[in-house]
Amino acid sequence: MEAGMIFALAMLISIAIAPVYGKYYSQTVTPSSKVEKVTRLHFFLHDILSGENPSAVIVARANLTKKGDSVLPFGSLVAIDDPLRVGPDPTSEIIGNAQGLYLSASQDASKFTIVLYADLAFTSGKFNGSSFSIFSRNPVLEADREVAVVGGRGKFRMARGYAKIKSSHFNATTGDAILDYKVTLYHY
Ligand SMILES: *[C@@H]1O[C@H](CO)[C@@H](O)[C@H](O)[C@H]1NC(C)=O
Ligand SMILES: *[C@@H]1O[C@H](CO)[C@@H](O)[C@H](O)[C@H]1NC(C)=O
Ligand SMILES: *[C@@H]1O[C@H](CO)[C@@H](O)[C@H](O)[C@H]1NC(C)=O
Repeated sequence: MEAGMIFALAMLISIAIAPVYGKYYSQTVTPSSKVEKVTRLHFFLHDILSGENPSAVIVARANLTKKGDSVLPFGSLVAIDDPLRVGPDPTSEIIGNAQGLYLSASQDASKFTIVLYADLAFTSGKFNGSSFSIFSRNPVLEADREVAVVGGRGKFRMARGYAKIKSSHFNATTGDAILDYKVTLYHY
């Protein structure tokens, strides 16, 4: 056989027996210079622990000897599926939801602070199916506070930014809160 033919045959065989399972892969390129966009969003997050159908439930709590009178003493972990609504009214239109957790993280009850680990997704409008992630402390008792946005999905892929939060309604007995969110997101 001619050398060229042997080579061609060897190539064919190697293609035919090429394994299809995964292989470590790595590639680094300089990204094309895409223009960063800024999106501002305004909505109300309704965090309701009371009633028949709460959107926030305590899933773990430290066995404290001194419970105090806080509804969420230090060490309480809350799972949330909170609706995002267009307004503070509990019947106003739902445009998304916040799913995740928050932890009551301050030993000093007079400085009640939560650390929020949540993904805020939209279910309508041009951001339907997209979401962004908050991983931040949130000093709930301060009138004006800010939390960090650390990432996103869909239209908010690679997002970073912040949300300014104000309490529109807060009931210290039940822990129910309606929160005014003004979000600024930098994304592509
Ligand atoms: C919770 O703490 C109390 C008081 O220290 C103790 O008697 C009780 O056994 C603890 N419960 C659990 C589940 O650890
Ligand atoms: C949002 O996206 C979902 C999934 O693609 C779709 O089923 C739904 O109809 C959309 N809702 C609106 C209001 O566009
Ligand atoms: C807080 O909720 C409790 C229980 O539903 C209610 O009795 C009380 O009036 C509420 N307080 C405020 C300030 O809304």
